[in-house]
Amino acid sequence: MKVRIAPSILSADFVNLEAELATISHADLIHVDVMDGHFVPNLTLGIPIVKRLSEVTSVPLDVHLMIEEPEKWVNQYAKHAGSVTFHYEAATNPKLAISEIRKAGAKAAMSIKPGTSFSEVSTLIPDLDMLLVMTVEPGFGGQSLIQETVPKVTEARDYASSNGLQLSIQVDGGVTADNIRELSLAGADTFVAGTAVFQASDRNFEIDRLRSLAITL
Ligand code: DX5
Ligand code: ZN
Repeated sequence: MKVRIAPSILSADFVNLEAELATISHADLIHVDVMDGHFVPNLTLGIPIVKRLSEVTSVPLDVHLMIEEPEKWVNQYAKHAGSVTFHYEAATNPKLAISEIRKAGAKAAMSIKPGTSFSEVSTLIPDLDMLLVMTVEPGFGGQSLIQETVPKVTEARDYASSNGLQLSIQVDGGVTADNIRELSLAGADTFVAGTAVFQASDRNFEIDRLRSLAITL
């Protein structure tokens, strides 16, 4: 799978998002964290801002929905995004969420929190374009990667390989230049990085550096 770097704008200046996007033009995807204050304790942004973001960048948006009842909302986000990720733990009907995303023309992805095992979701993998393995508890940027989540990446990669599936595997939370190689060797190909990119003095340089440190399996 191609290595992709997805800076998370959760670490950007929310009053200057258009200018912030211009500083990460080397990104493969723009990761947009949508939080509803219920599924996670934090609250961020919603459909109108996602729509405007899509109008001011040519980089595809990778919308990460940390919201309850995602089935009701995925369609509206998918209209403005390259990919939409919902949480398995929040969905009452994951298959419906997947088909709604695809109907709107976006790639369908599902995320699992650190406490959710891969085996619980393996039967849904053939329906997905991407699995997001959360490497921190969702809700806030700037946390350290939880090492115990990494074996799930390998489980997912092995499952996809042995079933002949073209599954993209994304990791999100605490991804840095120090651990991206290990995460890529575990089987991840798409890397969200908030703090690591936005705190760098040259963000595009950091995006390119992260990409070059990851190994393509
Ligand atoms: C956390 C979000 C992440 C977050 C990552 O719930 O899903 O996308 O922005 O930030 P860092 O890279 O700082 O851990
Ligand atoms: Zn995220």
